[in-house]
This record gives sequence, C-alpha cells and structure tokens, in this order.
Amino acid sequence: MITIDGGWLHLKNGALSCLLRVNQWGLLEQAHFGAPVETADGAALACRPGLGWGGSLLLDDSDTASCPDVLALAWSGSGRGDLRESPLELGSATDFRVTDTRVLHGDALMTCGLPQARGAEATLQVTMAQPGAELTLYFALFDTAITRRTVLKNTGNAPITLHKLMSFCMDVPGEFEMSTFDGGWITEAARHTVPVSRSRVVNESLTGFSSNRHNPGFLLSEPGATEDAGRVYGCNLVYSGNHYAAAQRSLQNLTRVMQGISPANFSLTLTPGETFETPEAVLCYSGEGLNGLSDQMHRFISGHIIPPYWRGRARPVVYNSWEGCMFDFTQARLLDLARRAKKLGCELFVLDDGWFAGRDGDTAGLGDYTVNRKKLPQGLTGLSQKISELGLAFGLWFEPESVNENSALYRAHPDWALTDGFPPVLGRHQLLLDLTKPAVRDYIVENVSHILDSANIRYVKWDMNRHSVAQGAKAHAYILGLYDVLRRIFGPRPEILLESCSSGGNRFDPGMLCFSPQIWCSDNTDPIARLSIQGGLSYLYPQSTFGAHVSAAPHAQTLRQTPLATRANVAFFGCLGYELDLRQLLPVEQQEIAAQIAFYKQHRALFQFGRFRRLENGWQVSLDGNFAAGVFHTLAGAAPGYERLRLVGPNKSGRYAVRTRAQALRIGQFGALVKHVAPVPLDPNGVVLRTADRHFLLPDAQEEYHVSGAALVSGILLAPMFRGTGYDKAQRTQADFGSNLYIIEEEPG
Ligand code: GLA
Repeated sequence: MITIDGGWLHLKNGALSCLLRVNQWGLLEQAHFGAPVETADGAALACRPGLGWGGSLLLDDSDTASCPDVLALAWSGSGRGDLRESPLELGSATDFRVTDTRVLHGDALMTCGLPQARGAEATLQVTMAQPGAELTLYFALFDTAITRRTVLKNTGNAPITLHKLMSFCMDVPGEFEMSTFDGGWITEAARHTVPVSRSRVVNESLTGFSSNRHNPGFLLSEPGATEDAGRVYGCNLVYSGNHYAAAQRSLQNLTRVMQGISPANFSLTLTPGETFETPEAVLCYSGEGLNGLSDQMHRFISGHIIPPYWRGRARPVVYNSWEGCMFDFTQARLLDLARRAKKLGCELFVLDDGWFAGRDGDTAGLGDYTVNRKKLPQGLTGLSQKISELGLAFGLWFEPESVNENSALYRAHPDWALTDGFPPVLGRHQLLLDLTKPAVRDYIVENVSHILDSANIRYVKWDMNRHSVAQGAKAHAYILGLYDVLRRIFGPRPEILLESCSSGGNRFDPGMLCFSPQIWCSDNTDPIARLSIQGGLSYLYPQSTFGAHVSAAPHAQTLRQTPLATRANVAFFGCLGYELDLRQLLPVEQQEIAAQIAFYKQHRALFQFGRFRRLENGWQVSLDGNFAAGVFHTLAGAAPGYERLRLVGPNKSGRYAVRTRAQALRIGQFGALVKHVAPVPLDPNGVVLRTADRHFLLPDAQEEYHVSGAALVSGILLAPMFRGTGYDKAQRTQADFGSNLYIIEEEPG
C-alpha cells in the first residue's frame, strides 16, 4: 500500500517499507528503507542533524537542519550543500525541490521503449523542479520489491546537456558490504564482497552491454549477515546496456547508493520540451539473510519481469546441437541426433549455429538468412517437419545483431555496421549492426520473422557474441533499438520460448528477461564451474531463468573429468538440456541419461519453480511442502568425515521421507582396483573390463530415511563416503566431483 499521511509518504508491502517525506526545504528525505514499519515511526527513524557539522553549507543560514549533506535523501543535486556523489550531472549545479507528490493506481508506463516490470499495486510520483528543468521520480510498489526510475524534462528555452541521470539514489544508515557478480567468458557471476567505506565502491559495465564483467545486480548486506540471517538489500537494473552503481559511506554513517546507466562518455542534448527516461531499478530487502533476499528477487523476476505467457510454464528438456556438432552437420546427422534425443526423453531439438549460407565457421555468414541447402536440402521447413514427426519440438539459433564482413549483407550495406569513426575492431571476426538505424531494425525484424513463420519453430536462441564500440548515449540508443526489434518479433509470437545468450552469460539481466524467460548462463557447462556460475546468478535470478545443459567430459573449457551424475545433478537446478554428441554415448550412459530425464520430468515443477536456497554443502528447492536437495563435492579427501544434510524450511512437526536419486558407478573408473573384488585377475586395460564398463553399472548407496522436519532442520547424517576400505553399496563411493541428489517428501501425518 502507498499512503500519504501526516506528511509521510509510505510505500509498504509484506517485505519492506520505504518511508519518505518532503522537508521544509523541498528536499525528498528517506526516513527509512528496510523492514516494514509504521508510518508513525517516521519521526524516530528520520535523521536529526543536531547542531550541524562545522563548515557545512546550509540552505538556510539560520537553521543547521538545512544542511543537505547530512540528511538521508532519496534524491540530491550538485554543489548546493550535498557534497556527496550526485545522481544527476548537467555540467553545472543542480538544485531540484519537490513541487508535487501523488499516488497513481497500478503501473506508470514508460514512453521511451525501455522494458519495465508490470503489475505494480500503485506508483508514487514525486515531481521536482529547478528553473528550466523538471524531474519526475517514480516509486512503484510490488509485492516483494519497489522499483524506481527518473524522468528529466527540459522545461526551459535552451538546450540542456545531460551527462548523468541515475534511476535512483538513496541514503541508508549503517555499515554495509557490497557483493557484486563478476567475471568474463566461461567464468561468469563469481561473487565478490568488499566493505563499503569512505571510498566509493563502484559496479559498472563499459562493454556496451550489461556484460559478463559485472552483472548489474548487486547486494548490500550488514557485516556478519549469512545466507539465512541478517539485513540484506538487493538492487538490479531492468536494462541490458552499460550500467553503473555506487555505494559510499559518509562521515555520518549514511551509505549513499545509486544505480543507473553508466555516465561514462554519456552526453545527450535535451531540446526544450524533450524528456529522458532512465531504466527502472529494482530494490529488495530482507532481514533473513542472503537467501531471504534472493527469494524476494526471484519472486519479483518470476512475477513481474518474465513475459506473462511463460510465468510458471514448464520448460522443455532441450537437446542442443552446438557442442556435439559445432558447424559440421547435415540433415541426416541432425535427424539421427534427434531420434537419439527423443529416445532419451528430450522434448525440444535446437539447431544451433551453422544453418545458413556461408556459415561453416565463425568467420562468415552472419547477417544472411538464406538456409544452407547443402546441409539442409529440404530447408528449415523440411527439417522442422521431420523433427516434429519424431515427436520433438524444433528450435533455432540466430545471431541477428551481428554481421561478418564476409557476408552478402555486409557487401550490400557496409554502412549498416556499427562504427565509431575509427578503423573497425572485430570481435569473433564480426561487427555489430547499427541498431540505432531504422532500416537495420526493419531488416532484422523482417528476416527473422520470415524464418520464424516459414517453419514450426517453438524456441529461439538469440545470441550476440561481441562487445560494442558504441559509447555513452549511442550505446544506450543501440539498446533501445534492440528492445524495439525484440518487441516487434516476439510481441506477436508470445508462445515462442526465447532463450537469450551472449557468448553465454554476457547479457544476463532483467532487461533481457522481460523478453526471454531464460538465458544461457555460460558456455562453461562443467558442473563444478557451474556451481559458481549458477550459484552466483542464484543470488539475483530464479533458477527457471537458467539454461543448464549436460555436456561431455572431459569438459571443453576446463578439461575436467566429472561424473555424469554430477553433470545432471547441477543442471537439474535450472532448465535442463543435453549438449553433446549422442552418437558417442556408451550404452550405460544412454541408460543413465534416460533415467536422469525421466527423474527431472517427474520433479520438473519443483526444480524449475520451487523456492531456491543455497545450503552449506549444496542447493535446495522447495515447492508445496516437498524438497529436492543437491549435495556437491569438489576434491575428494582421504578419510572424509560425516556429512550432514540440513534443510531450511521443513515443517518441524511434519514427517518426511528422504530418498536418494539412484546413481550408479562406472566399473571402469576403478581401474586396477577391481582386483580387490574380482574373483579372477583382470587387466584394467583389457577387453573384459572395457566391455563390462560399457554395459554394466554398480549401484551406489541408496539412502532412505524417515524423519521429522525438526531433524531435517537440525541436519541428518548421510551415508558414509568412500574411505579407502573397498566398495560397499551402503557407502557413497565418490571420487573427485561426486554429488548426490535427494528428494524429500512430506509424509501424510
Ligand atoms: C556462442 C554461444 C554458444 C553457441 C555459439 C555458436 O558462443 O554462447 O552457445 O551458440 O555461440 O556459434
């Protein structure tokens, strides 16, 4: 609810309160942002500056409380007494004062073409003005978050040059640590935490996109906060371009936080009457630690960002051709793979890169949409029809924002490439198309739409594989162009499942999620690397947004050899797919994968839409009183100690059945050690063992416990791990990178 009462503007939902007031100087003070409170608490929560702070600048020389520098504000300017970082830069002092506040019913819609969250209960609109310019701040109230954005209008007679306009700015009392999610290609979303002190801490992307360098989402937690306890704030930006966020603690222990489009090289002229709208920022709060905060964020993304058609809708088990085939395929090979994928239980066959003319490697063909008839003599129509006849849905890869110099499109329209006035710099041998040009956008919309309508295509992987040369306002205009293209192609086709991708997770942000319900997290599908990548993303994004595939071992990016069981156990916590050459699977692997897919389908809603939590030794999801928990190990140690499974959230007085997902052991992995169990001497490299390894599996520990919820909360002991004393089927026999998956179901009382 948003109330205006006794001078207080109060946004309150079940998770948080944001308590604001317009003070006597027209500044917008933020008395509180955090746990839900009463409006009447405002006076006690607001800053009371006392006798002043030495040489501070005062708006009213007779009143020390008129010092903007020491107040907790929800917006501020430059050079007029608030000496902290300003959310707005116009190249001169700014001094906006509140002229109007009002509550709007529901969403306040944007006009500039940026995507935004939908389904606000109400929106607080605060208007501020200074001579020649007006600012409108929007605070939208959702069930688990508030969002903020800002609009600047030139109300004067002369042009205004805008250098920086943040989506929000706020001051929160207290000490915080800032967690950011950083990395690069194949190493996305690693969490880094630093204290926020007197120096400014910045999270920024300058690549033209939200980037794999620094995800726009970040957390501010009180020191000592854990996964399940402590005060935590989370912020994110509904935007896919260059972003900026900063946090800095003042002498008065107010932490100023802001986020918006990166001001780097940003300069935009607003002519009289013109406006500029920022993207929408998302703000969440939890007093229940990092897991609590993640839950608020997940619910917000699932309920208000994901396209309505796909909210809560089951995602198919994918087979993707990329890692198995790369550019090397024919229709016959694809159909062979599709038949095998269908037999294993996959539901959607995705033809990745390489299907159009000239695309036999990554140096040519991008920009063209003519189907390669040598590879696909019956075109996409014929291929998709045959795939449908096999009982699989068909999906297709595109990279529409890019062009190779070696392409028909580039030869016809070299001026359509995005340039910066210098000789071109290529990334993956390609340029970007200039999406700020209407003719380029029309070309993409027409060609992609034509392909989509030419065959029965149920899924699109929308890729983009380089960083941009565009800077500042031009980079922003590109992103607006991208959103226009996505809206025009997929708006009329809401039932196509769009998975966005950018060399993996180079554009994993709420802006893209407004169009694509899932995103390819990373080209790194090594499950141990994915613990960090999916684990990092899980702080901000629900697992239904994660494209998560099982691939071959040793892994292409890490050379790591991991058990097939672990590859699946990690990918289960996302939208499961398989991406490897199915012709190379051994009979035992086929058997194992078929069992994995059947298991996932049985618990699909739990894995895709259950409430996700990070545990001390793995992950859990829970839905309707049932749980799944993954326990993951990295390097095996000799004589490992007892291990506990400790869940968060079971009903303490309930009864639960805990069962392992059946896993099996490859005989070959024991090598010469089989001598301890075999009745006759066996050569570890000989034909007998090699044949046995292809066809037979040894069962691993099948655990089953019937326990109270209280015991699960306290932690139950799991079966012992292998400790050098031989095979025992009551023991979890695991080498490096082992894992277990448990299903925990409530038993009727
Ligand atoms: C990028 C993607 C991959 C794959 C290739 C195809 O690297 O991240 O998943 O689609 O492009 O060229």
